[in-house]
Amino acid sequence: MRRAFIALLSAGALLLAAPVAVAPPALATIKEAAPGTLKEAAAAKGRVFGTAAAQAHLGESAYASTLDREFNQLTPENEMKWDTTEPSRNSFNFGAADQIVGHAQAQGMKIRGHTLVWHNQLPGWAGGISSRDDLLSAMRNHIAKEAGHFAGKIAYWDVVNEAFQDGSGARRDSVFQRVMGDGYIEEAFRAARTADPAAKLCYNDYNIDGQNAKSNAVYAMVKDFRARGVPIDCVGLQAHLTLGNVPSDMQANMQRFADLGVDVHITELDIRMSTPADGSKLATQANDYRKVVSACLAVSRCTVITVWGITDKYSWIPDVFPGEGAALLFDDNYGKKPAYNASLEALGGTDPGDPGDPGDPGAVTCSYTRTAQWDTGFNGQVTIKAGSSRVSSWTAVLTMGSGQQISGLWNGTPSTSGNVVTVKPVGWNADLAPGASASFGFTVNAPGGNQAPPALTCSSP
Ligand code: G3I
Repeated sequence: MRRAFIALLSAGALLLAAPVAVAPPALATIKEAAPGTLKEAAAAKGRVFGTAAAQAHLGESAYASTLDREFNQLTPENEMKWDTTEPSRNSFNFGAADQIVGHAQAQGMKIRGHTLVWHNQLPGWAGGISSRDDLLSAMRNHIAKEAGHFAGKIAYWDVVNEAFQDGSGARRDSVFQRVMGDGYIEEAFRAARTADPAAKLCYNDYNIDGQNAKSNAVYAMVKDFRARGVPIDCVGLQAHLTLGNVPSDMQANMQRFADLGVDVHITELDIRMSTPADGSKLATQANDYRKVVSACLAVSRCTVITVWGITDKYSWIPDVFPGEGAALLFDDNYGKKPAYNASLEALGGTDPGDPGDPGDPGAVTCSYTRTAQWDTGFNGQVTIKAGSSRVSSWTAVLTMGSGQQISGLWNGTPSTSGNVVTVKPVGWNADLAPGASASFGFTVNAPGGNQAPPALTCSSP
């Protein structure tokens, strides 16, 4: 011990006697990678990015992997609704809901409970009750058992769903309203607080995204609840929107709710269009998604953005609005749509396969030009350019517009699924040195005269 002490001392003396110039540690240039998924980008902004999902599709690998990769909040699409969980009175079935909650928990996702009290997907026995006390007791029991069953696992509950009418802002004429009167909503919130004190309790509705008679009515209710101490923590704006129609006052609307002291969640976002999609509709949709995400980011209490489904392959829209759809962020083949990239960018993220980041090794950019056109068709050319690094291969994805069909393609290897054409190199034009480019061309038959450019994305390898 003593010898060690002396050795240290003499080393110190040596250092003091002969100071040497020590270069400061080199400052490493660290390039922070932008978040590459919706959930990471949202988290970096203090937000949550969720989706509705269905237990029935979790066995499909592309569905589950997209869900797990991109989203950190899950709303069971149907599994927690009253007709599923309490099909006959006081006989509960949480099987499907437990399974999807288990999946979400294993992935560390937050879970949105949807929904405790709703006039739709309500079992016949509940819809047939005509005595106030009986219905109140059934509703309290339903909430106690369901919210109690999931207590501790649910971040947010949509306690009451769609209780107001469009247009007038009057209460919807549901069995709850008819039999129990206005007071049923606050009764539901009180019961939910008792059953799961940790969950944030939300009122959820559609067509309350901008300021109108209906959102004014919801605003008045939330204000009243806050004043009287009825337990409400958040308002869900469903945001089932149509192309090109994001309300211009959406941000202001969210802010006025936030100013009441509640969080604001976008709970069921989708932006539908007439199908099939084409390049210009997809571009409008991308811009719409960008507007919604940006509006949320501008309101500090807008903490959650949830889309109503992962892929256009599975969406409620074509069943309810025939001829419409393509409303989500991933196409039928789980390809990222322009709306995906716009949402990610609005959140401050960058798709790792996105050509937009030239500093990203392996990134490519691509551009489209129309090289010829005639009444019933046109020729197009796509050029793919490597960024600052060499790429060993590339993929371009063209989404063709309505009535457009590629009749010939050169210098690329196409594969077609519906109106989506994925193009890979022919071999000799795969490998691109930094800054080098490759092009392929194609002829489009468009008998209806639709010469809109196809939507184009590209990635490498
Ligand atoms: O489960 C049955 C199946 O057994 C049967 O073979 C099949 C035949 O049609 O129906 C299946 O049930 C369907 C259920 O979705 C599950 O797929 C119902 O018919 C269908 O009506 C139901 O639609 C759901 C709809 O709510 C009902 O109102 C949609 O999936 C769901 O996305 C939609 O979600 C609502 C939100 O909860 C509230 N806000 C609006 C939103 C969109 O409508």
